[in-house]
Order: sequence, then C-alpha cells, then structure tokens
Amino acid sequence: MRTPLIAGNWKMNMTIADGVALVEELKAALRGVTGADAAVCVPFTLLKSIADALAGGTIALGAQDMFWEPKGAYTGQISAAMLHDVCCTYVIIGHSERRGRFGSIPESWSDELLDAFGDNDAVVNRKVKAALAAGLTPIMCCGETLAERERGITDEVVAGQITAGLAALTAAQVAGLVIAYEPVWAIGTGKVCDPAEGNRVIAGIRAVVRRLLGDAAADGVRIQYGGSASPDNIAEIMAQSDIDGALVGGAALKPSFAEMVKVAAAR
Ligand code: 13P
Repeated sequence: MRTPLIAGNWKMNMTIADGVALVEELKAALRGVTGADAAVCVPFTLLKSIADALAGGTIALGAQDMFWEPKGAYTGQISAAMLHDVCCTYVIIGHSERRGRFGSIPESWSDELLDAFGDNDAVVNRKVKAALAAGLTPIMCCGETLAERERGITDEVVAGQITAGLAALTAAQVAGLVIAYEPVWAIGTGKVCDPAEGNRVIAGIRAVVRRLLGDAAADGVRIQYGGSASPDNIAEIMAQSDIDGALVGGAALKPSFAEMVKVAAAR
C-alpha cells in the first residue's frame, strides 16, 4: 500500500516569522498522527528557519524548484545538493506556474520573458534526474490547461508530460517518486476538478508509468491531486482509489492544513 502524501506548496508567500509560527502549530497538531506523510514546500529564503522549526516532528521539508547542475558558476541558482544540505526531503519540479505560458503568469509578459522563465519537459527531466542523484524525492507536476481540456486532449497532454519527464529513469527511481496531477484551470480558482475525473486521469498516468516502466514503478509511484484542494473537499479526494494525496496551495497557508493530513491518515 502506498502511504498518502499531503504536501503544502506555499508558493511566494510567508515571512520567516509567520512561517515558523504556522509550522509550530502544524507540528503540534500532527504529533502522533501516522498513516499519512506531510510536507511543506517553502520559498528558498525560509528553508533554514523552517527546517529548524520542524526538527523533532513528523512534517518533512521541501523546496519549490532547483537547478539541475550540481554546482558552479550559475548565479542565482540553487542545486539539489544545497536543498539536501538544508534538510529538504522533497522538491517540486515542473509546477505549471514555472512552465510558463499559462497559470498565473500575466498576459502582458513578452515571449522573451516567458522563454526565460519557463521550464519545459526537457528541463523538468534534467531537474528530476538531478534531484534523485542528490537524494531528494521529486514531486513532478503535470496537468492540462483549460483550452487543452476543452479540445479533449487532456490525456495526451498529461501522458506526454509524464513520458518526457520520466525519460531515462529506472523503474526503481520512479517507484520512489511523487507525481502531482494539477489541472491548470483548477489551481487557485476554487474550481476543484471533479474527484472522479481526477481519479480517472491519475489512473491513466499510472497506466502510462506501467507501460513505460512496469508494475513495480506503477504500483510504487505516489500520484497526488492538486488544484483548489481544501479541508472541505479532501475527504472526497482521498476516497478515490488511485489518488495518493494532495499538493495544496492556498489551503496550506492555514493551520487547518493539519486537518487535511488527518483525513488522509484516516483513509
Ligand atoms: P491551490 O491549492 O491554491 O489551488 O494551488 C494548487 C497548487 O498549485 C499546488 O501546487
């Protein structure tokens, strides 16, 4: 059986003081809770303070992005080894807000800015490989835009992202990683994807992994749902057969995030 993972993605939110106060509350609320893994993926500037605050508890730490090279003259970049050094377990890779051309990126941005900012499938694959090499667990994101869903190509889009993102990985590596299915139109909109439909897409992702890498990889990989997940809908999300947890944005900024972990733990 796969252990569900409820991970918070704080995005570009929180000061050190507010973040530490929140994780201290979460840590206390989740003391003694077993049956689900919990993590908070925080901005780079908060990693050390949050790592210290989480020490001795059950909540794991994650980052929201990384660079694929191990070290060198890459001004402004952060390596996987640096994240490991600051006690990260997880790193989000290929979030739609980093892939460019959709998500929350303003329409006024030029193509040059989008190209400079955006991860593509090849970049995602490099980052996933580098994260694994440094001992981190990637949370590799995929998901279709509203336009892609309306054109009826959700399954192809997601299968393409998964196939490219997992290229040249071993079955054992994939068995240990986390995939987050986040329909772009459900992120930050309050429009949660119908859980049965989310489950259908996620079962399809697992089938792609099975075809590419075999049973051990498909049965081991944890596949989360993300997009307006909250304490109000987490029970219905966790009731689905193929959904192994949630990647949570807005609702992870509140102490009630702990309730979502408890619901997953009770499954
Ligand atoms: P929301 O939960 O705010 O919709 O964000 C989801 C998300 O993007 C998590 O990575």
